[in-house]
Amino acid sequence: MFKLTGQTAFITGASRGIGFAAAKALGLQGAKVIINARNPENLQQAKQVLEQAGIETIAAPFDISNPHEAVAHLEKILETHKIDIFLGNAASQHRQNLLDYPLEKFEEIIQVNLTSQWAMGRHLARHMVENGHGRIIFTGSITALSGRKDVTAYSIAKAGLHAMVKQWSVELGNAGVTINAIAPGYIATEFTEKLKQDTEFTSWLHQRVPQQKWGNPENVAAAVCFFASREADFITGQTLAIDGGLSSAL
Ligand SMILES: NC(=O)c1ccc[n+]([C@@H]2O[C@H](COP(=O)([O-])OP(=O)(O)OC[C@H]3O[C@@H](n4cnc5c(N)ncnc54)[C@H](OP(=O)(O)O)[C@@H]3O)[C@@H](O)[C@H]2O)c1
Repeated sequence: MFKLTGQTAFITGASRGIGFAAAKALGLQGAKVIINARNPENLQQAKQVLEQAGIETIAAPFDISNPHEAVAHLEKILETHKIDIFLGNAASQHRQNLLDYPLEKFEEIIQVNLTSQWAMGRHLARHMVENGHGRIIFTGSITALSGRKDVTAYSIAKAGLHAMVKQWSVELGNAGVTINAIAPGYIATEFTEKLKQDTEFTSWLHQRVPQQKWGNPENVAAAVCFFASREADFITGQTLAIDGGLSSAL
């Protein structure tokens, strides 16, 4: 599909779900992948699976939730690696109704899902500008496109990412660096496991999603590969919904 031979991709939240599928898809197109998550054992298992598929893989276990620490980890990685592609994908969720939502939880979710993405992405943008080339991709969400109960911090952080790609496309436009976001709809992963078990939710989903089904991580990974490719050179500042039509339906 898209050749990424000779390129290195750094993917946060890559031990499972969308991040893992993206690492695999990027790797199968020829990229070396540096995968990140908190749990080192799970990350090691993911590395083994990727290596069995012939993908050169490096595990970088750390928690991205503190932006200063996350950037310090990145600096270490950049001492020995040139990064061409960044997928800022790890995120946290806390579901609670707006009126009871603790401010501390709001701050925590904004820090992981927005501030850390900004800090890591900005650090890598400097590196990519120096190299004259780069691809930055953030995992947003369709919850940033339309409101949904109980996800006030998450959806606001994701909306920040959607705004960030527009803003940064202007700032990085003449530097050879593109910046785009993917906005998944409902994708079957551990993140949505509870919703998937909820039969009422699944029947709502079948009514609301034109394709009447859950998406899978590979659906999202394909779009990541496209944004990462040379072929997408003239595409920047965009958010692509991958949602079986949900965001297009009234
Ligand atoms: N699934 C959906 O329906 C859906 C819809 C819209 C958007 N998204 C977005 O898609 C992205 C991936 O979600 P997913 O569904 O693939 O989730 P997932 O299957 O739960 O995977 C999350 C990954 O992120 C890692 N992670 C979580 N917190 C981290 C942290 N603080 N630092 C480093 N790594 C961390 C996890 O490993 P550890 O636990 O070991 O750290 C895991 O590898 C998220 O940004 C999510 O908001 C998902």
